[in-house]
Amino acid sequence: MIHPFLRLTGVSKRFGGVLALDHVDWDVMRGEVHCLVGENGCGKSTLIKIVAGVHPPDAGSGLQIGGEDVLPLSPSRAHALGIQVIFQDLSLFPNLSVAENIGIDLALSGLARPARFAEMRRIARAALARLAFDLPLDARVADLPVAERQIVAICRGLAAEAKLVFMDEPTSSLTRAEVNRLLAIVARLKAEGIAVVFVSHRLDEVVEIAERVTVMRDGRRVGTFPVAEVNERRIASLMTGLDISASIVARDMSAAPPLLAVRNLTREGEFSDVSFDVRRGEVLGLTGLLGAGRTELALSLFGMTRPDSGTIAIAGNVVHLRSNQDALRAGIAYVSEDRLNLGLNLRQSIEDNLTLAVLDRLRGALGLLSTAKRKQMAQSWIDRLSIKIPGLDRPVSTLSGGNQQRVVLAKWLATGPKVLILDSPTVGVDIKNKQGIYEVVRQLADEGVGILLISDEVGEIFATCDRVLHMRAGRIVEEAVPGGVSEDALKERIYA
Ligand SMILES: Nc1ncnc2c1ncn2[C@@H]1O[C@H](COP(=O)(O)OP(=O)(O)O)[C@@H](O)[C@H]1O
Ligand SMILES: [Mg+2]
Repeated sequence: MIHPFLRLTGVSKRFGGVLALDHVDWDVMRGEVHCLVGENGCGKSTLIKIVAGVHPPDAGSGLQIGGEDVLPLSPSRAHALGIQVIFQDLSLFPNLSVAENIGIDLALSGLARPARFAEMRRIARAALARLAFDLPLDARVADLPVAERQIVAICRGLAAEAKLVFMDEPTSSLTRAEVNRLLAIVARLKAEGIAVVFVSHRLDEVVEIAERVTVMRDGRRVGTFPVAEVNERRIASLMTGLDISASIVARDMSAAPPLLAVRNLTREGEFSDVSFDVRRGEVLGLTGLLGAGRTELALSLFGMTRPDSGTIAIAGNVVHLRSNQDALRAGIAYVSEDRLNLGLNLRQSIEDNLTLAVLDRLRGALGLLSTAKRKQMAQSWIDRLSIKIPGLDRPVSTLSGGNQQRVVLAKWLATGPKVLILDSPTVGVDIKNKQGIYEVVRQLADEGVGILLISDEVGEIFATCDRVLHMRAGRIVEEAVPGGVSEDALKERIYA
């Protein structure tokens, strides 16, 4: 009989008044890639910490690793049994080098310094080679981008002879290209017989790499499924307990007047000969691989860069956009992919962020800003988008990702756009908040705004858009209607 590498029986964990885990039974097989999904606070990290020996589970819980009962479990014993965790904060030593971080176990060995140094480098080189990855061994970890720090953390796990690697939300701050690289690394670990438990918010990733997926909700395991037997929508509804299958049906908007008409737009090296319309009340999806030119196109539509040729017309009038101010005046607003850099000033208050784009409009006849008016406007957007805030004067950094995203949305909506460009609006946002953002998008469309939704999540496009454009290498290569093509078929063509 094959027994699982890891088995939990009736694992519970209470933190004061919070039952973080409620009688969880679960197992992970040797060498399997297993995804653990669930909304914020459902207990995923707590589960991982129990397996890693960080938290003791409550009395009555059972935990077996390699067929042996292992409770009580200390972190060092979990480590010796082959459990490695890449925590969200990565737990690296930022001031140490790549080699020192990977070979950190040697720091406590009896080896003399020069020998230890050489050995660390050897171990680090070997671990990187196993991942077919190259990093400068002497670079200070603090100087590396997040994606590479993550690779250092994975190498450290490899050097410690991991049998089961937990990755706690490893992709939340990565670009699509970095995610792909990480998924390739997961595949390599698996090929070596190392099991990987991958915690992710992004259901498309789950479906891409895992063999099984476990869904948690409110501290309970809702179920574990072979990935082939569930789709993203089903997982989402298990996570939330909501019926998301009742998602929006694409509408035929071809009779509505075009609000944004783009013709033969070209910018050397970025996109070429792009033509399309966004109609009044329409949600038009724009999908494709990272690097297909979608964001570059959006930047030209928002006046941030100048196209070399072609035209942009808003509500029938050709416009020449020299700045984002021009674009805002013409009626185009843009919610950037990188909300933290382009969309929000995290240290400023929620009110300041919300009203920044419309300050001119709020100034009175004498050029004075009416504070009352400003507050009132900010509050009305908070209400309208159901943004949960501790107070208008608090910094935006105090909000959750989903609520920050709504603040960005409100900031641009306050400019009263005819056309709203949303670039990957739900990246890093959990399922329930994603649903909320989709609802706002539909509501805006119903009010007559034309929406261009850029997203590489095909499921998201299908759930929200009336029509989809597929962009590849700077060109629109396909136009589809959700329902007219299947999600899988489109995905296959995108990744082909
Ligand atoms: N150390 C702790 N002390 C008190 N409560 C905690 C602690 N760790 C987690 N919790 C609570 O347990 C629940 C599950 O949290 P967590 O495991 O972090 O969820 P997830 O990783 O799925 O977002 C939450 O309600 C959280 O607030
Ligand atoms: Mg967590």
